[in-house]
Amino acid sequence: MSEPSIVRVSVPGLWARKEAGERIVVLTAYDYPTAEILDRAGVDVLLVGDSLGMAVLGYENTLAVTMEDMLHHVKPVARAARRALVVADMPYLSFHVSAADSVRNAGRFLKEGGAQAVKIEGASPSRLDLVRTLVEAEIPVMGHVGLTPQSVNRLGQFKVQGGEGGAGAAIIRGAESLEAAGVFAVVLECIPLEVAAEITKRLRIPTIGIGAGPHCDGQVLVFHDLIGYSRGYMPKFVRRYADLDGEVERAVRAYAGDVRDGSFPADEHCYHLKPAEKARLKAALAGRKSGGGA
Ligand code: KIV
Repeated sequence: MSEPSIVRVSVPGLWARKEAGERIVVLTAYDYPTAEILDRAGVDVLLVGDSLGMAVLGYENTLAVTMEDMLHHVKPVARAARRALVVADMPYLSFHVSAADSVRNAGRFLKEGGAQAVKIEGASPSRLDLVRTLVEAEIPVMGHVGLTPQSVNRLGQFKVQGGEGGAGAAIIRGAESLEAAGVFAVVLECIPLEVAAEITKRLRIPTIGIGAGPHCDGQVLVFHDLIGYSRGYMPKFVRRYADLDGEVERAVRAYAGDVRDGSFPADEHCYHLKPAEKARLKAALAGRKSGGGA
């Protein structure tokens, strides 16, 4: 029996969700098996985030992540995703260059990577120009305001943005400008829920929150945080749904113990010669010994 055809989530489909008041589910993904599970589980958007740098590649922040790193991970996610919209995050310095190079870099994620859209951080005037240029080149763009991790050296640390001194108004204006420039959705990271609620109310495009409270049109988390496959500092906005770090350590310790005490592999993990082949092997080895040949 042929499989029922799967309809991929589209940009207009996401707009329709907002219209209908249906929340959008977004998660990061960086590899084929994970993307396959998330797609099967009904996640709407798979974001190949540059959080790759911290979640998978062991960097302190996202700045070291390259175009080649991102493409390497976008490709398997796109191969696995049959229903979810795949968004590739543009890494630091891939879109801070000339408009032509930025379009070329973004286009690689669609042409070579198989993604359907890209994400860029920030809402400065040059970023808005770039959004217009990318959209003109038929590249759907997701915006990202609030805490923009690529700005870590300017911000000093990862912390809540828009909480004081009118900074919330600047973030609201940034999100509005991004919508006017043509982004199809905007990530709101680490901002007070009141600011996120105001943005969500003002924009026609969906807002996707991470540390931005419940009033956004959708939510995104870093997959490794959700499944507890990471150690150390965990932001307040993460809810862990599993403890894979502990579970994997337990499994590996059990395996190491079994190897060391000889209980693995057991008989059921072994291949056996049939009795006739056993005898033939024995004879062949005996013959070789008595013949003394090579
Ligand atoms: O890189 C990333 O994973 C992100 C999300 C946290 C929004 O930008």
